[in-house]
Amino acid sequence: MKILAFESTCDETAVAVVEDGRKILTDQIFSQAQLHAVYGGVVPEIASRCHVESISILAQRAIEAAGITRQDIDAVAVSYAPGLIGAVLVGVNFAKACALALKVPLIPVHHIRGHIAANYLAYPELEPPFLCLAISGGNTMLVDVRGYTDMEIIGSTRDDAAGECFDKTARVLGLPYPGGKPIDELSQGGDDGMYHFPISHVEGNPYDMSFSGLKTAVINLVHNAQQKGEELNRKGLAASFTKAVSDSLVPRTMMAAENLGYKKIVVAGGVAANSRIRADFTAAAKEKGCELFVPPLRLCGDNGAMVGAQAYYEYLAGVTAGSDLNAYATMDI
Ligand code: KG4
Repeated sequence: MKILAFESTCDETAVAVVEDGRKILTDQIFSQAQLHAVYGGVVPEIASRCHVESISILAQRAIEAAGITRQDIDAVAVSYAPGLIGAVLVGVNFAKACALALKVPLIPVHHIRGHIAANYLAYPELEPPFLCLAISGGNTMLVDVRGYTDMEIIGSTRDDAAGECFDKTARVLGLPYPGGKPIDELSQGGDDGMYHFPISHVEGNPYDMSFSGLKTAVINLVHNAQQKGEELNRKGLAASFTKAVSDSLVPRTMMAAENLGYKKIVVAGGVAANSRIRADFTAAAKEKGCELFVPPLRLCGDNGAMVGAQAYYEYLAGVTAGSDLNAYATMDI
Protein backbone atom coordinates (compact mmCIF):
# COMPACT_ATOMS: atom_id res chain seq x y z
CA MET A 1 0.00 0.00 0.00
CA LYS A 2 1.51 3.32 -1.12
CA ILE A 3 0.61 6.33 1.00
CA LEU A 4 1.23 9.96 -0.01
CA ALA A 5 1.85 11.69 3.33
CA PHE A 6 1.84 15.37 4.30
CA GLU A 7 3.42 17.14 7.28
CA SER A 8 2.97 20.89 7.91
CA THR A 9 2.44 21.31 11.66
CA CYS A 10 5.33 23.72 12.26
CA ASP A 11 8.11 25.06 10.03
CA GLU A 12 8.80 22.07 7.80
CA THR A 13 6.72 21.40 4.70
CA ALA A 14 7.18 17.71 3.99
CA VAL A 15 5.71 15.23 1.55
CA ALA A 16 6.63 11.54 1.41
CA VAL A 17 5.57 8.33 -0.25
CA VAL A 18 5.76 5.34 2.09
CA GLU A 19 5.03 1.72 1.25
CA ASP A 20 3.34 -0.56 3.78
CA GLY A 21 4.34 1.65 6.70
CA ARG A 22 7.99 0.64 6.60
CA LYS A 23 9.60 1.59 3.29
CA ILE A 24 10.35 5.18 2.28
CA LEU A 25 10.00 5.65 -1.48
CA THR A 26 10.72 9.33 -1.13
CA ASP A 27 10.84 11.91 1.67
CA GLN A 28 10.81 15.53 0.45
CA ILE A 29 11.38 18.16 3.11
CA PHE A 30 11.48 21.92 2.76
CA SER A 31 12.67 23.53 5.99
CA GLN A 32 11.61 27.13 6.56
CA ALA A 33 14.08 27.50 9.46
CA GLN A 34 16.13 30.16 7.67
CA LEU A 35 13.04 32.32 7.14
CA HIS A 36 12.24 32.24 10.86
CA ALA A 37 15.84 32.51 12.08
CA VAL A 38 15.86 36.29 11.72
CA TYR A 39 13.00 36.47 14.29
CA GLY A 40 14.60 33.95 16.68
CA GLY A 41 11.63 31.57 16.49
CA VAL A 42 8.77 30.40 14.29
CA VAL A 43 6.40 33.15 13.14
CA PRO A 44 3.06 31.33 12.62
CA GLU A 45 1.76 33.58 9.83
CA ILE A 46 5.00 33.24 7.85
CA ALA A 47 4.94 29.47 8.39
CA SER A 48 1.39 29.12 7.03
CA ARG A 49 2.13 31.28 4.01
CA CYS A 50 5.29 29.35 3.23
CA HIS A 51 3.46 26.01 3.47
CA VAL A 52 0.92 27.30 0.94
CA GLU A 53 3.70 28.34 -1.43
CA SER A 54 5.64 25.08 -1.29
CA ILE A 55 3.23 22.20 -0.67
CA SER A 56 2.03 21.59 -4.24
CA ILE A 57 5.57 21.79 -5.65
CA LEU A 58 6.77 19.29 -3.04
CA ALA A 59 3.83 16.94 -3.72
CA GLN A 60 4.62 16.91 -7.43
CA ARG A 61 8.31 16.36 -6.67
CA ALA A 62 7.51 13.52 -4.27
CA ILE A 63 5.46 11.64 -6.86
CA GLU A 64 8.26 12.01 -9.42
CA ALA A 65 11.03 11.08 -6.96
CA ALA A 66 9.12 7.98 -5.80
CA GLY A 67 9.02 6.82 -9.42
CA ILE A 68 5.23 6.44 -9.35
CA THR A 69 2.23 8.06 -10.99
CA ARG A 70 -0.79 9.55 -9.21
CA GLN A 71 -2.75 6.40 -10.04
CA ASP A 72 -0.33 4.33 -7.92
CA ILE A 73 -1.29 6.19 -4.71
CA ASP A 74 -3.55 4.05 -2.51
CA ALA A 75 -4.22 6.60 0.24
CA VAL A 76 -3.38 10.14 1.37
CA ALA A 77 -2.30 10.88 4.95
CA VAL A 78 -1.84 14.10 6.88
CA SER A 79 -0.65 15.33 10.29
CA TYR A 80 -3.83 16.98 11.59
CA ALA A 81 -2.81 17.73 15.23
CA PRO A 82 -1.16 19.10 17.30
CA GLY A 83 0.62 22.12 15.81
CA LEU A 84 0.36 25.75 14.74
CA ILE A 85 -3.24 25.87 13.63
CA GLY A 86 -2.73 27.91 10.45
CA ALA A 87 0.17 25.69 9.41
CA VAL A 88 -1.70 22.44 10.10
CA LEU A 89 -4.71 23.70 8.13
CA VAL A 90 -2.60 24.04 4.98
CA GLY A 91 -1.58 20.36 5.05
CA VAL A 92 -5.06 19.18 6.01
CA ASN A 93 -6.77 21.07 3.20
CA PHE A 94 -4.21 20.08 0.58
CA ALA A 95 -4.43 16.42 1.64
CA LYS A 96 -8.23 16.54 1.52
CA ALA A 97 -8.12 17.90 -2.02
CA CYS A 98 -5.63 15.19 -3.08
CA ALA A 99 -7.72 12.38 -1.57
CA LEU A 100 -10.85 13.74 -3.24
CA ALA A 101 -9.18 14.15 -6.64
CA LEU A 102 -7.49 10.74 -6.52
CA LYS A 103 -10.60 9.04 -5.05
CA VAL A 104 -8.55 7.35 -2.32
CA PRO A 105 -8.99 7.22 1.49
CA LEU A 106 -7.79 10.11 3.66
CA ILE A 107 -5.94 9.09 6.85
CA PRO A 108 -5.55 11.56 9.74
CA VAL A 109 -2.34 11.14 11.77
CA HIS A 110 -1.49 12.58 15.18
CA HIS A 111 1.88 14.35 14.80
CA ILE A 112 3.47 12.71 17.86
CA ARG A 113 2.26 9.27 16.77
CA GLY A 114 4.13 10.08 13.56
CA HIS A 115 7.33 10.91 15.44
CA ILE A 116 7.09 7.57 17.25
CA ALA A 117 6.49 5.76 13.92
CA ALA A 118 9.71 7.24 12.49
CA ASN A 119 11.36 4.39 14.36
CA TYR A 120 9.40 1.77 12.35
CA LEU A 121 11.11 3.11 9.23
CA ALA A 122 14.56 2.74 10.75
CA TYR A 123 14.05 -0.54 12.62
CA PRO A 124 12.09 -3.18 10.66
CA GLU A 125 12.05 -5.46 13.71
CA LEU A 126 10.50 -2.87 16.03
CA GLU A 127 6.92 -3.56 17.12
CA PRO A 128 4.85 -2.32 20.07
CA PRO A 129 4.50 -2.63 23.00
CA PHE A 130 7.23 -0.26 24.25
CA LEU A 131 7.77 2.93 26.21
CA CYS A 132 8.50 6.05 24.16
CA LEU A 133 9.96 9.40 25.13
CA ALA A 134 8.83 11.92 22.52
CA ILE A 135 10.94 15.10 22.67
CA SER A 136 10.42 17.85 20.14
CA GLY A 137 10.19 21.61 19.80
CA GLY A 138 6.58 21.76 20.92
CA ASN A 139 6.04 18.56 22.92
CA THR A 140 7.78 16.49 25.57
CA MET A 141 5.98 13.37 26.74
CA LEU A 142 6.34 9.81 27.94
CA VAL A 143 4.02 7.53 26.00
CA ASP A 144 2.96 4.00 26.87
CA VAL A 145 2.73 2.49 23.35
CA ARG A 146 0.66 -0.65 23.86
CA GLY A 147 -0.09 -1.09 20.18
CA TYR A 148 0.39 0.71 16.86
CA THR A 149 -2.76 2.77 17.53
CA ASP A 150 -3.28 2.11 21.24
CA MET A 151 -1.22 4.53 23.33
CA GLU A 152 -1.46 6.71 26.41
CA ILE A 153 0.53 9.71 27.66
CA ILE A 154 1.75 8.80 31.14
CA GLY A 155 3.76 11.97 31.74
CA SER A 156 4.51 15.23 30.00
CA THR A 157 6.03 18.63 30.51
CA ARG A 158 3.94 20.99 32.62
CA ASP A 159 5.35 24.02 30.81
CA ASP A 160 8.00 24.28 28.08
CA ALA A 161 9.03 21.47 25.76
CA ALA A 162 12.65 20.29 25.87
CA GLY A 163 13.24 21.65 22.35
CA GLU A 164 11.83 25.05 23.30
CA CYS A 165 14.32 25.10 26.19
CA PHE A 166 17.21 24.38 23.78
CA ASP A 167 15.97 27.09 21.40
CA LYS A 168 15.63 29.78 24.12
CA THR A 169 19.03 28.89 25.65
CA ALA A 170 20.61 29.19 22.21
CA ARG A 171 18.93 32.55 21.70
CA VAL A 172 20.31 34.00 24.94
CA LEU A 173 23.76 32.75 23.91
CA GLY A 174 23.40 34.47 20.55
CA LEU A 175 23.24 31.19 18.61
CA PRO A 176 20.99 30.83 15.54
CA TYR A 177 17.46 29.33 15.50
CA PRO A 178 16.70 26.42 15.79
CA GLY A 179 19.14 26.26 18.66
CA GLY A 180 19.33 22.54 19.45
CA LYS A 181 22.03 21.67 16.94
CA PRO A 182 24.24 24.75 17.63
CA ILE A 183 24.08 24.02 21.39
CA ASP A 184 24.93 20.38 20.70
CA GLU A 185 27.97 21.48 18.68
CA LEU A 186 29.07 24.11 21.22
CA SER A 187 28.80 21.63 24.10
CA GLN A 188 31.30 19.18 22.54
CA GLY A 189 34.34 18.97 24.80
CA GLY A 190 32.78 21.35 27.35
CA ASP A 191 32.88 20.69 31.11
CA ASP A 192 29.35 19.61 32.06
CA GLY A 193 30.06 20.24 35.77
CA MET A 194 30.98 23.90 35.29
CA TYR A 195 27.51 25.31 36.02
CA HIS A 196 24.80 23.79 38.20
CA PHE A 197 21.26 24.01 36.89
CA PRO A 198 18.02 22.88 38.56
CA ILE A 199 16.43 19.57 37.62
CA SER A 200 12.72 19.79 38.28
CA HIS A 201 10.60 17.22 40.04
CA VAL A 202 6.91 17.81 39.62
CA GLU A 203 4.59 17.05 42.48
CA GLY A 204 1.73 14.66 41.77
CA ASN A 205 3.13 12.64 38.87
CA PRO A 206 6.72 11.30 38.88
CA TYR A 207 6.62 11.07 35.07
CA ASP A 208 5.76 14.75 34.52
CA MET A 209 8.55 17.18 33.69
CA SER A 210 9.21 20.92 33.75
CA PHE A 211 11.74 22.96 31.81
CA SER A 212 10.75 26.57 32.48
CA GLY A 213 12.89 26.76 35.65
CA LEU A 214 15.94 25.55 33.75
CA LYS A 215 15.27 28.05 30.96
CA THR A 216 14.97 30.90 33.48
CA ALA A 217 18.15 29.78 35.30
CA VAL A 218 20.16 29.95 32.07
CA ILE A 219 18.70 33.34 31.12
CA ASN A 220 19.44 34.73 34.62
CA LEU A 221 22.99 33.38 34.58
CA VAL A 222 23.73 34.98 31.21
CA HIS A 223 22.08 38.32 32.05
CA ASN A 224 23.84 38.54 35.44
CA ALA A 225 27.19 37.88 33.81
CA GLN A 226 26.48 40.51 31.14
CA GLN A 227 25.54 43.11 33.79
CA LYS A 228 28.71 42.42 35.77
CA GLY A 229 30.81 42.33 32.61
CA GLU A 230 31.91 38.76 33.38
CA GLU A 231 32.92 36.31 30.69
CA LEU A 232 31.04 32.98 30.76
CA ASN A 233 32.55 29.72 29.62
CA ARG A 234 30.17 29.11 26.70
CA LYS A 235 31.26 25.53 26.04
CA GLY A 236 30.90 24.68 29.73
CA LEU A 237 27.52 26.37 29.86
CA ALA A 238 26.21 24.46 26.81
CA ALA A 239 27.51 21.17 28.25
CA SER A 240 26.10 21.84 31.74
CA PHE A 241 22.73 22.88 30.30
CA THR A 242 22.51 19.79 28.10
CA LYS A 243 23.42 17.57 31.05
CA ALA A 244 20.53 19.13 33.03
CA VAL A 245 18.06 18.40 30.21
CA SER A 246 19.36 14.87 29.82
CA ASP A 247 19.26 14.26 33.58
CA SER A 248 15.63 15.32 33.55
CA LEU A 249 14.74 12.97 30.69
CA VAL A 250 16.84 9.83 30.83
CA PRO A 251 16.51 8.65 34.49
CA ARG A 252 12.77 9.46 34.44
CA THR A 253 12.26 7.39 31.29
CA MET A 254 14.25 4.48 32.73
CA MET A 255 12.21 4.63 35.96
CA ALA A 256 8.93 4.62 33.99
CA ALA A 257 10.13 1.66 31.90
CA GLU A 258 11.01 -0.28 35.01
CA ASN A 259 7.69 0.53 36.71
CA LEU A 260 5.69 -0.43 33.62
CA GLY A 261 7.77 -3.54 33.00
CA TYR A 262 9.16 -2.45 29.63
CA LYS A 263 12.54 -3.63 28.34
CA LYS A 264 12.06 -1.82 25.03
CA ILE A 265 12.63 1.94 24.97
CA VAL A 266 12.06 4.24 22.00
CA VAL A 267 13.10 7.88 21.69
CA ALA A 268 11.49 10.18 19.10
CA GLY A 269 11.36 13.81 17.95
CA GLY A 270 13.81 16.56 17.01
CA VAL A 271 15.61 16.62 20.38
CA ALA A 272 16.36 12.89 19.97
CA ALA A 273 19.12 14.13 17.63
CA ASN A 274 21.05 15.43 20.63
CA SER A 275 24.37 13.59 20.98
CA ARG A 276 24.50 13.80 24.82
CA ILE A 277 20.93 12.54 25.24
CA ARG A 278 21.59 9.71 22.77
CA ALA A 279 24.79 8.74 24.63
CA ASP A 280 23.11 8.88 28.05
CA PHE A 281 20.22 6.71 26.83
CA THR A 282 22.64 4.23 25.29
CA ALA A 283 24.54 3.92 28.59
CA ALA A 284 21.36 3.71 30.72
CA ALA A 285 19.76 1.09 28.45
CA LYS A 286 22.93 -1.00 28.55
CA GLU A 287 23.06 -0.81 32.34
CA LYS A 288 19.41 -1.86 32.69
CA GLY A 289 19.57 -4.51 29.96
CA CYS A 290 17.00 -2.69 27.81
CA GLU A 291 16.74 -2.52 24.02
CA LEU A 292 17.02 1.08 22.79
CA PHE A 293 15.66 2.50 19.55
CA VAL A 294 16.57 6.05 18.50
CA PRO A 295 15.88 7.27 14.95
CA PRO A 296 18.75 8.18 12.62
CA LEU A 297 19.28 11.96 12.62
CA ARG A 298 17.35 12.55 9.36
CA LEU A 299 14.21 10.99 10.89
CA CYS A 300 14.34 12.81 14.25
CA GLY A 301 12.96 16.14 13.06
CA ASP A 302 9.63 16.70 11.32
CA ASN A 303 9.26 14.73 8.09
CA GLY A 304 6.54 13.28 5.90
CA ALA A 305 7.77 9.68 6.02
CA MET A 306 6.88 9.33 9.70
CA VAL A 307 3.32 10.40 8.86
CA GLY A 308 3.14 7.81 6.09
CA ALA A 309 4.47 5.12 8.44
CA GLN A 310 1.89 5.75 11.17
CA ALA A 311 -0.88 6.24 8.60
CA TYR A 312 -0.47 2.64 7.42
CA TYR A 313 -1.21 1.32 10.92
CA GLU A 314 -4.07 3.80 11.40
CA TYR A 315 -5.58 2.53 8.13
CA LEU A 316 -5.24 -1.10 9.20
CA ALA A 317 -7.08 -0.12 12.40
CA GLY A 318 -9.91 1.36 10.31
CA VAL A 319 -9.08 5.03 10.84
CA THR A 320 -10.01 7.24 7.88
CA ALA A 321 -11.56 10.70 7.62
CA GLY A 322 -14.00 12.49 5.35
CA SER A 323 -13.76 15.91 3.78
CA ASP A 324 -15.00 17.39 7.05
CA LEU A 325 -11.60 16.61 8.69
CA ASN A 326 -10.45 19.58 10.76
CA ALA A 327 -7.02 20.70 12.04
CA TYR A 328 -6.34 20.97 15.78
CA ALA A 329 -3.72 22.97 17.68
CA THR A 330 -3.81 20.57 20.64
CA MET A 331 -4.96 16.99 20.98
CA ASP A 332 -4.38 14.05 23.30
CA ILE A 333 -2.44 11.26 21.64
O1 KG4 B 1 10.53 17.37 16.04
P1 KG4 B 1 10.95 18.71 15.57
O2 KG4 B 1 11.61 18.84 14.23
O3 KG4 B 1 9.73 19.71 15.53
C1 KG4 B 1 8.62 19.60 16.33
O4 KG4 B 1 7.76 18.72 16.08
O5 KG4 B 1 8.58 20.42 17.29
O6 KG4 B 1 11.89 19.30 16.72
C2 KG4 B 1 12.50 20.52 16.61
C3 KG4 B 1 13.31 20.77 17.86
C4 KG4 B 1 13.88 22.18 17.95
O7 KG4 B 1 13.59 22.72 19.21
C5 KG4 B 1 15.38 21.95 17.78
O8 KG4 B 1 16.18 22.92 18.41
C6 KG4 B 1 15.55 20.59 18.39
O9 KG4 B 1 14.42 19.86 17.94
N1 KG4 B 1 16.81 19.92 18.00
C7 KG4 B 1 17.77 19.57 18.88
C8 KG4 B 1 18.84 19.03 18.11
N2 KG4 B 1 18.47 19.06 16.80
C9 KG4 B 1 17.22 19.61 16.75
N3 KG4 B 1 17.83 19.69 20.21
C10 KG4 B 1 18.95 19.27 20.83
N4 KG4 B 1 20.02 18.76 20.17
C11 KG4 B 1 20.01 18.61 18.81
N5 KG4 B 1 21.06 18.09 18.17
